Parts: sequence; C-alpha cells; structure tokens
Amino acid sequence: MYRQENHLQHIEIGSLLDSSLEKLLSNSFSNAKIAILVDENTHEYCLEYLITSYTQLANAEIILIPSGEENKDLEICVQVWEALIDYRFGKKDLLINLGGGMITDLGGFVASVYKRGVSFINIPTSLLAMVDASIGGKNGIDLNGIKNQLGCIQFPELTIIDDCFLQTLPDEEIKNGFAEIIKHALIADANLWNDFKKGNLEIKAKSDLIKRAIQIKMDIVEKDPFESDLRKLLNFGHTIGHGLEGALLEINPIAHGHAVAIGMIGESYISLKLGYLLEDTFNEIKELILSFYQPVEFSEPLKKEILNLIYQDKKNQANKINCTLLLGIGEASFDHFIDENLLIETLNYLQNL
Ligand SMILES: NC(=O)c1ccc[n+]([C@@H]2O[C@H](COP(=O)([O-])OP(=O)(O)OC[C@H]3O[C@@H](n4cnc5c(N)ncnc54)[C@H](O)[C@@H]3O)[C@@H](O)[C@H]2O)c1
Repeated sequence: MYRQENHLQHIEIGSLLDSSLEKLLSNSFSNAKIAILVDENTHEYCLEYLITSYTQLANAEIILIPSGEENKDLEICVQVWEALIDYRFGKKDLLINLGGGMITDLGGFVASVYKRGVSFINIPTSLLAMVDASIGGKNGIDLNGIKNQLGCIQFPELTIIDDCFLQTLPDEEIKNGFAEIIKHALIADANLWNDFKKGNLEIKAKSDLIKRAIQIKMDIVEKDPFESDLRKLLNFGHTIGHGLEGALLEINPIAHGHAVAIGMIGESYISLKLGYLLEDTFNEIKELILSFYQPVEFSEPLKKEILNLIYQDKKNQANKINCTLLLGIGEASFDHFIDENLLIETLNYLQNL
C-alpha cells in the first residue's frame, strides 16, 4: 500500500484489502450507520467487491442514483438527503462514495452539507476520479448547465485508490481519465508528459502514472487548498472545457475528460497567441491530444452558449475571463485575463480543428 498523506488528506493507493478501511471502520465508525452511494454502473461492477470485503459493510444502506453528468444536480442531491433522513442518518454516521467523479463530487457535497457535515470516504472507480476528482476536497454539483456552480471544499476521511476497478471501466472512460493526467503533466511535470507520450499505458504503467498525477495535485492543493492562487493552475483547460461540457450537456453530452482535452488545445492556442508558448510546443500538445480525442463539433448558436457559460466561470473577476495559460511543457501560470475577441477566435479555431 502506497500512502500519500498531508495535513489535509489521506490517500492510499493499492489493494482495497490492504487499506486502512477496516481499521477506520472498526475504530472510528464501529457504532455508525454506513451508507454507500453508487450509480448504476458502480452498483453493477464495483459494489459487490467492496461489501463482501468488509463484514462492517454487510448491513450498509445502498443509495443508488442514475449515472451520468446530467444527474450531478440538485434534484438528485435532494433524493439522497431524503434517503439519509429515512435511514435516520446522524452526525456521527458515514457516507462512502463509490464511483467516478460524478459520484465523488455529488456524494462529497451531499455529505458536507447534510446536518452541517458528516464524514465521507471516497473510493474512486474511474481513472479520472482516481487521478483528480476524488482528491483535493472540491465537491459540487452543476446548475442550469453551469459546471460545479454549487459546491464546497471539504476533505474526505480517507481516499482509497485501487486500480482493480479499472478492469470494468470502458476504454472510452480510461481515455477520459488520461485528460487530467495530461493536464497535470502540462502544468507541472515535463517528465510525466514524456513518459505519457511514450504510450505505455497498460495497467502497470497506469498505476505509476496515477501515483505521479496524484502527487502533483496533492502538492498544489497542500499549498493552496482554497484556491487563492496556485490551485488555479489545476484549472488549465477547464475554462473552455467547462463551457463546452455545459453547453452540450442537454443536447449531445460529451465526457468531462474529452471537454477538458479540447479545452487544453484551446487554452494552449491562447498561450501561443499571447506569445507564451512556442509554435512547435503548441503543435506537439495538439497532436498528442488529437491522437486520443476527436474534435468537438458545435454550431454558431452553441458557440454563443459556450461563451455565456465561460462568463460564469468561478475564476472570473469583474466579468473578465480568467484563464490559466501554459508557458511551456511542465510550466503554467494563472490569472491571465483574456480579451473576448481572442476567446472567440479560439472557439473558431476549435470549430475547425
Ligand atoms: N472535484 C474535482 O476536483 C474534480 C476534478 C475533475 C473532475 N471532476 C468531476 O468529475 C466528473 C467526471 O468524472 P468521471 O469521468 O469519473 O465521470 P463519471 O462519474 O460520470 O464516470 C464515467 C462513467 O463511468 C462509469 N464507471 C465508473 N466507474 C466504473 C467502473 N469501475 N466500471 C464500469 N463503469 C464505471 C460511470 O457509471 C459513468 O457512466 C465531472 O463531473 C467533473 O466535473 C471533479
């Protein structure tokens, strides 16, 4: 078991069976009620392994919600809170979030707000949730297509990352997880970028990439947990990515990872146009991303909607669009305020990729 720990979060990477979950359940939650939040897929593919591994979970309440980003919303939260109330779930009880980023984001939010906060544990089951969503303490839900508009920063008791769950994850979802590993490499670690580029992405190599990607996020979050400054680096690709993801949510949803990947091309293009990034480096980034992801098609009216959503981004100040930009591979800088014309030019560029 490989542990990454600081004063904010405790992350264990390795087999669930070797984790400290058993000890935690016996020591801190021996008299607690336990609920496990799952979606349709993690109910089918991941739940049995978890509950048959721990006798303490034999009587856990299972809360099943529909899968998909369109369900990361208030209506589903209300249903989960009502289930907890029916279950007479109290302040000292425990919610276990077993799923991808949709489950860890929504479950963390549900737990943090319920009775002003109950404990939760994250057991991420998608690659994207393992390397990003389940760590760092950000929890939240979408509102009217605006990504993560309601949320909070609250850290789980424990996060356990067991890559055995990846065996049932569809290839498309593995690819979506690569986007956040690529982001971590681009903003902070040129060696990770080079190793990723070598293309050895089998499970064993993946577990090494997972550890390194997590370490990058943990180091940044430890220095700036509430996103006053440095943590904004982690938003690289997300200003445009969230606009794309939100605008397409009701029409033709695309995965978060896919949206962020195309968003990273867009924000690299802005970095190029503003003279921060060399053309060869931009082309290298674009080519690697396009070797994994299709360009995203969007119409003119949708372009306006994407722009509207970008104006709702949480980093913006005084209605100015705030972007994290790349200075090179492994180096980024935050708080760049982008002119609307350049943003429109960038969206035009993405339309014609
Ligand atoms: N909080 C953060 O810091 C943070 C960071 C990055 C992304 N996110 C959020 O994470 C979400 C995206 O996460 P995601 O890509 O994991 O999406 P997701 O949770 O929707 O999972 C993707 C799909 O994979 C399925 N799945 C998950 N694990 C599985 C398994 N082991 N076997 C089979 N199927 C499985 C899910 O049911 C779903 O259909 C977005 O909402 C995004 O905003 C949050």
